[in-house]
This record gives sequence, structure tokens and C-alpha cells, in this order.
Amino acid sequence: MRIDVLTLFPEMFTGPLTESIIKRAREQGRVEIHLWDIRDFAEDKHRITDDYPFGGGAGMVMKAEPVARGLEAVLSAGERAGVPVILLSPQGRLFTQEVAKELAAHPRLVLVCGHYEGIDERVREAGLVTDEISIGDYVLTGGELPAMVIIDAVVRLLPGVLGAPASAVEDSFYHGLLDYPHYTRPAVWRGLAVPEVLLSGNHQAIARWRRKEALRRTLLRRPDLLRRAELSAEDRVILSQLVQEEGVDLKGLLEEG
Ligand code: ADE
Repeated sequence: MRIDVLTLFPEMFTGPLTESIIKRAREQGRVEIHLWDIRDFAEDKHRITDDYPFGGGAGMVMKAEPVARGLEAVLSAGERAGVPVILLSPQGRLFTQEVAKELAAHPRLVLVCGHYEGIDERVREAGLVTDEISIGDYVLTGGELPAMVIIDAVVRLLPGVLGAPASAVEDSFYHGLLDYPHYTRPAVWRGLAVPEVLLSGNHQAIARWRRKEALRRTLLRRPDLLRRAELSAEDRVILSQLVQEEGVDLKGLLEEG
């Protein structure tokens, strides 16, 4: 996969893209990441990329032309078809594991980081971006951190990037549930013992325990996820036990949607 990022602050990306799993994925050629400085596409010698908002008000607005020129440099007219050009902004559709999977299926992505109070609306009106994504209902100082979040979530899904092929599949959210609890040595730490079943060597019993604990966590912390999760008949039986055990009120939750 190739990812191009247009940003006013390319240096912000250094840490996250040069460590750990993303670093290895780049070294192995599984992903190519190109950072483009929007200031390089400014029209004047002062490299100005923002201006006062028409209509007045606080803050500055990112000018359309430097972004447009940057996008035209990244993607020639002939390359544009089918490549998602994603603007990061709090007005976008919400980023989820589903969206990460959707993006991971593309051979190329272009990410545009907004800054200041926003970006001139005509960048959208001119059809220069094909998608707009928010990483959550809060406002950050710019689209750089969201772009890094998206790169991280997408790159770890690319074939061969994670060491163990099962780890991406078993993660939180992969089947729409939160993850089960994990333990490692020692078996007793500061008086706290690891659940017996995990030491039993009985793989079926371990898998059952893990599924139940994933369901328990989801029920207690994020019951909203249960509506869309892939639940088997056995899961539903376990859930009704958990509802009793935990004394929670699930009224209507599983029937909706
Ligand atoms: N830019 C500022 N806040 C953002 C958010 N929550 N998601 C994406 N881009 C942003």
C-alpha cells in the first residue's frame, strides 16, 4: 500500500512512523508513506497557507489553492480514479475498525490534514476530497494526530505486518466485541492469581472462558456494541447468564437493529 499525507507539520509524524510495527512494515516494503508539506505549494514567497475568515470571527482558515496544488502534485489526473482522498476533520464520518478494514483494502490512500479553524469549503465543493473522517467527537488542534491514528490502524491490517496472523483477528472489535483479559507470568503476582482455567491446558475450556469474558466486558462497558456484534446461539445463552450474574438491565438492547 502507498499512503500520501498532506500536512503543514510533516515533522509531527516522525515518531509514530519510525518506531515499532509501522517502522518494520515500511522497511519490509509492505507500506510506503510519503509526507508532503502543504507550505511547499503556497503561492507566495512567504509560503502563506492560511487567511482570515470571510464574514469575520476568530481563527484562521486554510486557503484552498495550496491544498489543491498539493493534491494535484500527489495524484495526477490519470491516477485519481478510485483513490480515496480523505480530509481529516471533526465533521467527517466516524472512524471505526470497519472503516480501517475498508481503507486497508485500497492500494493507495491520500490523507489531508486540516488545521486552524478549518479549511476553505471550496476544497470540498471542487470535489478535491472524496471522503471526510473524524476519529471521535472531540476537537484536536489539527488532522495530524488523526492521520497517524488512521495509518496505524490500517497498516497493522495489511498482510504480513503483524507477527502472528491470529493477533489481528482476535483483537478487540474484530468480531465487534471488546477483548478478553490477558495474563502472563508469574502465575501469582502480588497475591493476585491468574484464572485457573488458563493454566489447565484445556484449549476448549480456555476458548469458552475467553469468549465469556469478552462478552462480560462488552456487556458491562460497551453494551451498545452488542447490537451489531456477530453473536452465536451459544453467545446469547452466555449473555443471558451474564445479565443474571451481573444484574444488568439489557431491555431491548439485543432486539434493536
Ligand atoms: N481535526 C480536529 N479534530 C479532529 C478529529 N476529531 N478527527 C479528525 N480530524 C480532526
